Amino acid sequence: MNERIFESFPELRTQRLFLRQITQEDDNNLFNVLSNEDTCAYLVHNAVHDIANIQRIITGMQRFFDEKQRIRWGIAQKQDNSIIGHCGFFDIDRSNCCAEISYCLKKELWGQGIMTEAADAMLKFGFEDYGFHRITAKVIKGNIGSIRVLQKLGFTEEGLLRESLYKNGQYHDLMILSVLESEYRRTKQEHEG
Ligand SMILES: CC(C)(COP(=O)(O)OP(=O)(O)OC[C@H]1O[C@@H](n2cnc3c(N)ncnc32)[C@H](O)[C@@H]1OP(=O)(O)O)[C@@H](O)C(=O)NCCC(=O)NCCS
Repeated sequence: MNERIFESFPELRTQRLFLRQITQEDDNNLFNVLSNEDTCAYLVHNAVHDIANIQRIITGMQRFFDEKQRIRWGIAQKQDNSIIGHCGFFDIDRSNCCAEISYCLKKELWGQGIMTEAADAMLKFGFEDYGFHRITAKVIKGNIGSIRVLQKLGFTEEGLLRESLYKNGQYHDLMILSVLESEYRRTKQEHEG
């Protein structure tokens, strides 16, 4: 694993997006993303209705990166650099070279291929630059959009973690999916012909 990636925040660019570190100046835009009930319905946390909480979340994201524990990118539109979502790696397991992926996007922008584009860049970074062997995703059962994003990126369904998330007074099943570095490279080779 290439730990030098933590020396300065790794910015990523795609056709439409700029993935960069989130700063306190992004608080209002991140608030617009995370205050939406539908966006947070399938996340571990509920919608955030207090800008001070958003500021604490941003501080936490920066601290996790400084402590080399997690990487979370703000997803910005190239045209105006405004934050429309976030995505990242957490539960980084250095002994086994794996991590979990998570992401969310402003509701008004769903269905335009944006998260597939952002997560594709994350996978490239994770496998080619950082050196993961395996990347997992856990998705609350019924989150069809998220499962579709992962399928498009080559993730395979592994099974169901029954009632493993307790949220808002009830237990939820989590689907677990993963993609291996060998699968990522094979898919890439096929696309490159
Ligand atoms: C999940 C999420 C990130 C997807 O982002 P997005 O930019 O809309 O995703 P994309 O446009 O790249 O791809 C979505 C795919 O799911 C499909 N889809 C979405 N909702 C669907 C539904 N209800 N039924 C069937 N297909 C659906 C879309 O058609 C698209 O597939 P296609 O390209 O084959 O047509 C976004 O909806 C989101 O932020 N949701 C709330 C947070 C969340 O659930 N995060 C993931 C936690 S695991």
